[in-house]
Amino acid sequence: MRQSKLFSKIRKEIPKDEVSKNAQLLIRGGFIYKEMAGVYVLLPLGIRVIENIKQIVREEMNALGGQELLMTTLQRKELWEETDRWDDKKVDVWFKSRLKNDVEIGFGWSHEEPITKMLINYIESFRDLPVYVYQFQNKLRNELRAKSGIMRGREFIMKDLYSYSRTEEDHKLFYDSVIEAYHRIFRRLGIGEDTFLTFASGGAFTQFSHEFQTITDAGEDVVYVDRRKKIAINEEVFTDDVTQQLNLDRNNLEKVKASESGNIFSFGGKKCEDLGLLYTDKDGKKKPVILGSYGLGITRLMGIIVEKLSDEKGMIWPEEIAPYRAHIIALGEQKDEQVQKISEEIYTAFGEEKALLDDRDVRAGEKFAEADFLGLPLRIVVSKRSLSEGGVEVKLRTEKESKIIPLEEIKKLL
Ligand SMILES: Nc1ncnc2c1ncn2[C@@H]1O[C@H](COP(=O)(O)OP(=O)(O)O)[C@@H](O)[C@H]1O
Ligand SMILES: [Mg+2]
Repeated sequence: MRQSKLFSKIRKEIPKDEVSKNAQLLIRGGFIYKEMAGVYVLLPLGIRVIENIKQIVREEMNALGGQELLMTTLQRKELWEETDRWDDKKVDVWFKSRLKNDVEIGFGWSHEEPITKMLINYIESFRDLPVYVYQFQNKLRNELRAKSGIMRGREFIMKDLYSYSRTEEDHKLFYDSVIEAYHRIFRRLGIGEDTFLTFASGGAFTQFSHEFQTITDAGEDVVYVDRRKKIAINEEVFTDDVTQQLNLDRNNLEKVKASESGNIFSFGGKKCEDLGLLYTDKDGKKKPVILGSYGLGITRLMGIIVEKLSDEKGMIWPEEIAPYRAHIIALGEQKDEQVQKISEEIYTAFGEEKALLDDRDVRAGEKFAEADFLGLPLRIVVSKRSLSEGGVEVKLRTEKESKIIPLEEIKKLL
């Protein structure tokens, strides 16, 4: 991408109506635009990050045998009445509307009910199981507060995976493999060290649900982490009893603020029984399918990464999710043919999908500050001086020192 063509511009002013660091940085950098409180547009740079995060998640979901689909945003009321979750007193984040003929409909805040109902049409016998399905969906939730930028939105992207298993044993095996897959995802996203499997409330069938909590001051939760054992307890279920039950020692637990990046549940057979998803087992008997539900906050993850990995100069994108891998900065290219030629050559070698070429007629200092602010992993400066020193100046965003690399060696960076 040529920076001169990018319609979003980097801004110095901090947006007045944003208190969260993630929204401030992302708006200034031209990754997102605020439509209203808790509702953000993904601009060209932002959507590239989101797509990269999705791709990592997609690879890990496919490796588990997950099949991708896309449910609808408009949902039927009757479905949610069957499980008693239509009432605003039971679920307080519903957005609802009416069709022209006055039929009430809901906007999807979750998809367990519709997905389960749909699968009645495809699952009949034990031979049809297991089924693992997932999607990336815009969830709509009428959240009371939306002050955490993209970490708590009223419209946000979630990955939700659902597992339909024949037996509790099959379910348990899959559930544990999702935990492993989530850990791999967090590692690839660069926040593996600080993300903990956390025991929390909300288990519909089991005593606990499992959350994945990432330590950050921008988080809205408080958890007690055991760094050595790599697990945590959410304060909502934190008691001496629970600590003992989990074989943890109070003295090894550290109280920290964290953000819930993922949440996984076992529903047992209850949900499928309520909705009528039964299968005929080997013994000829009808039994409810065992359901597991596995959420991951895609937009929230982008916010968490900005909060955690940024420094005083700006954002720092991990290699796998950066909107572009390299920022090629041409200095004084308008005046210098050689600089122009070589920067174009490097840009072509990387390809417009991998590199951002700063071809604007802007002061060097400003270009550097903006490059730091955008936070692409690799910075390559082409200038008269670098050429006279025998090449181009290369620097990683995470390092202080740059070094001159001869032109012939650029290929190695690719
Ligand atoms: N309002 C929101 N904005 C952004 N991400 C959210 C929001 N609500 C939930 N998420 C993300 O989706 C994941 C699954 O959501 P879920 O557990 O159903 O939500 P909650 O914990 O709010 O009931 C959460 O772990 C979180 O990462
Ligand atoms: Mg949750």
